[in-house]
Amino acid sequence: MSLKDNSQRYGSISRLLHWGMALLLLWQFLSAIFRVVAEDTAIEQFFWSVHKPLGFLLLILAAIRLIWALANSARRPASLNKLATLGHLGLYALLIVVPALALLRQYGSGRAFDPFGIPLFAGFEEKIGWMIEPGNLLHGWLGWLLLAMIVGHIVMVKVHRRSPSHEDVLPRMLGN
Ligand code: HEM
Ligand code: HEM
Repeated sequence: MSLKDNSQRYGSISRLLHWGMALLLLWQFLSAIFRVVAEDTAIEQFFWSVHKPLGFLLLILAAIRLIWALANSARRPASLNKLATLGHLGLYALLIVVPALALLRQYGSGRAFDPFGIPLFAGFEEKIGWMIEPGNLLHGWLGWLLLAMIVGHIVMVKVHRRSPSHEDVLPRMLGN
């Protein structure tokens, strides 16, 4: 299989990014769900302990994926319709905005942050309010919106697969 996309199929780099991020997002949402339904339990601790570093990794992967999508835009499989294009754009926007708001809040809190041992923010004394507020207001809600859109995305793939009048798009992303 080619590394790059073509008009019939996504190539192996697009697929690696798509399925790799899907797995990491599964962990990320499990951590958020357990935070709500199983606060202060061992299972919450297990999943939540990496929410911040994993979120940081997801932001880097989303940026790489966006650049790769733009570089391949002329040759990747055509979108089925306007709604599918809008849905994918919405997913990209949230994949960037959700972790970016949290990172901005993390910086503004003045607390040191060293995901995977990388000394990203050294930390400082005074909090910066305008960096914290957007994350406090929106990170969680937009995170749940992203989950809802992912569920919608998976449902639409199934709808297209089942209905004879629609094109099955799963082989574009999975299989040969
Ligand atoms: C794609 C990446 C991310 C997703 C999908 C995500 C998702 C979520 C969701 C759904 C919640 C709400 C949980 C609740 O209602 O209690 C949440 C909370 C939280 N997240 Fe994230 N997150 C991501 C990245 C990050 C990053 C990079 C950081 C920090 C550097 C972070 C820090 C937090 C914190 C501190 C909370 C609890 C406070 C709040 O609800 O805003 N997250 N996250
Ligand atoms: C079981 C889970 C999933 C399945 C079965 C699935 C299936 C697919 C399929 C078949 C396509 C090709 C659609 C087309 O070309 O019309 C696609 C594309 C896409 N999917 Fe998923 N997907 C899943 C999870 C996710 C997740 C978690 C995300 C994250 C937000 C996501 C984001 C996207 C995006 C943005 C595209 C457009 C192509 C790209 O830029 O990578 N998918 N998906």
